[in-house]
Amino acid sequence: MPSFDDIVNELQDKINEETIEAYGQAGFERWRNPPHRGKPAKANYEGASTGKCGDTIRIFLHIEDDRVRDAGFATDGCGSSMISGSMAAELAVDKPCEALAAISGETVLEGLGGPDCLPVDDHHCAWLAANALHEAVGDYYKQTAGRAKEG
Ligand code: FES
Repeated sequence: MPSFDDIVNELQDKINEETIEAYGQAGFERWRNPPHRGKPAKANYEGASTGKCGDTIRIFLHIEDDRVRDAGFATDGCGSSMISGSMAAELAVDKPCEALAAISGETVLEGLGGPDCLPVDDHHCAWLAANALHEAVGDYYKQTAGRAKEG
């Protein structure tokens, strides 16, 4: 009779195989250990976007002198939202704020290696991540404009 550990290991192997099939090896590695997960300690702006699926992706930005110094993400959604949030945060780092509007769902998919890197039904997760990033930079512009008004 297989031990409890054997059953757990077998299940984990099966999940890993299915994930590699869905995301490819690079996507699998990102899913297993997503870079930029969580809120950076110095994050001073954030944005969130909720999809029709009901899932929310949040993007946190640490911006100084109009440039993204660090970025992070959080999601309560699927594996694809985790991979997409991670890539959107990665794409934002070291960019001037004015460059962030050009980061679209398509850019996120390209960053991941192209449209085949996510199941077609999950492509919207990449757009959700890009929207969250746009909301975060919108937060920056709103707060900056508010401070400018206060003088
Ligand atoms: Fe909802 Fe991926 S974010 S299905």
